[in-house]
Amino acid sequence: MISIKLIGKEEKKVDAFVAFVFENEVEQNVKDLAHLPDALLKEVSRLVKQKQLQGKEKEVMPLSTIGLLKAPFIFFVGLGKREDFYEHTLRKASAHAIKTLQAHKCVHVVSTLPNLHGELGLDELLQAAAEGYVLGEYAYDLYKKELREKRTIKTISFLTQQTLATANALKRARIGTEAVCYVRDLVNMPAEFATPAYLEKEARALAKKHKLKIRVYGKKELVKNKMNGILAVGQGSRHEPRLVVLEYTPLKKKESLALVGKGITFDAGGLGIKPAEYMEDMKGDMAGAATVLATLKAAIELGIKKNIKVYLGLAENMLGAAAYKPGDIITMSNGTTVEVLHTDAEGRVVLGDALALAAKENTAIFDFATLTGAAIVALGHDMTAVMGNDADLVEDVLVASRRVGEEAWELPMRDHHREQVKSDVADIRNIGKPRMGPGTITAGCFLEHFVDKQPWVHFDIAGTGLANAKTDLSPRGGTGAIVRTVLEYLLM
Ligand code: BES
Ligand code: ZN
Ligand code: ZN
Repeated sequence: MISIKLIGKEEKKVDAFVAFVFENEVEQNVKDLAHLPDALLKEVSRLVKQKQLQGKEKEVMPLSTIGLLKAPFIFFVGLGKREDFYEHTLRKASAHAIKTLQAHKCVHVVSTLPNLHGELGLDELLQAAAEGYVLGEYAYDLYKKELREKRTIKTISFLTQQTLATANALKRARIGTEAVCYVRDLVNMPAEFATPAYLEKEARALAKKHKLKIRVYGKKELVKNKMNGILAVGQGSRHEPRLVVLEYTPLKKKESLALVGKGITFDAGGLGIKPAEYMEDMKGDMAGAATVLATLKAAIELGIKKNIKVYLGLAENMLGAAAYKPGDIITMSNGTTVEVLHTDAEGRVVLGDALALAAKENTAIFDFATLTGAAIVALGHDMTAVMGNDADLVEDVLVASRRVGEEAWELPMRDHHREQVKSDVADIRNIGKPRMGPGTITAGCFLEHFVDKQPWVHFDIAGTGLANAKTDLSPRGGTGAIVRTVLEYLLM
């Protein structure tokens, strides 16, 4: 990962400067930078007059500055119109700019920040810009030399005041983006490597590093605790399922937030096998588990003073001879009986047991899951579907998501939806009836059976956690979506 830092004065070795410019203000913005030689200002004027440099969003213009500046290049990066600007504009702009910096094989870059005339704090701008650079630079490059060679940039230094606020902003950016990239790496890792055992190992390493309490429910403990949902989904695979619990309790009081993650390390669909084109990305069906693990890691590194317990529901949904079948009835750990009608609706079955345990041990619950293809049908790949039983908590989450530029949208859960998961032979069924229904909502209604009275928010990240094409901040594949939202919420 590139390192981002603050510097008071110019660096010795610089390959490029970055200057952000607003549409229709380019010349003034460049003048405001100070110390730029007249020859450069003249060149900027010429480019502006010829409409080659306009400051529009997504515009990145490299200019050779040999003999004029210490760095051989200055990059003008467009932000669009000032009146449309918000923090996320800058995050997207720096993420976009870094590709051009890479194309020019830059190694050490010095970045300025746009002048917002005090409308936004320097710390907020700094955090957004830094996050954009790091997230835009990410590639899953372990198996491709060409990608590794593209990643030339080693440092991005911000020429700005060094105060407690700016140092803090940079720390938040660093820890937050590291967590996002950790999720991306885990999601992008082939399912043959990122098995339930592997994710358990990652959890153990985090526990060891920070002296966290850890519980691992292997096959024996799952049986003992009647966690038959996790067992059923995992029984068609050669990889044993598990439930891993991590506890970070910096406070003595009993309030604690559970972060529960769906960790299906590969979702073949089970006996109700997926068609090949829908199976392609299913190594990423553990994005929820990766999200909660990474969020906990970042929360600890940020020194967040809140009790947090993480639950990883880990299993592989395969078609082995012992695989669970349509028609099976599972008695879950909280006594709820589930009629299995589709083995591909496995995430909710695993989460049921994980949520039931979390409900016993926490005063609030968030869960994260690549749960339904219907979430993509409803909201696409850019909006996380959010549901819950507490309007205030849902609103807080939505506020946090807006602040960090991650879009989320609440879907309803009403009694007529709840009716749709009732079963004729058990308490509930694992797919809605009729089949052609609001799949994301009925999945939420299923999960509701496993939480108690405590406030609970469910995040369906099927669309946002796995990108089918590159986005502003991420390449195709794992995105690490919603990690920054949860961190923002925890810091609120
Ligand atoms: N993991 C999938 C959901 C998914 C689909 C995530 C696409 C990411 C991208 C989940 O386990 C699943 O297969 N859900 C089924 C439920 C259906 C059988 C009721 C779905 O969405 O089709
Ligand atoms: Zn499935
Ligand atoms: Zn799944």
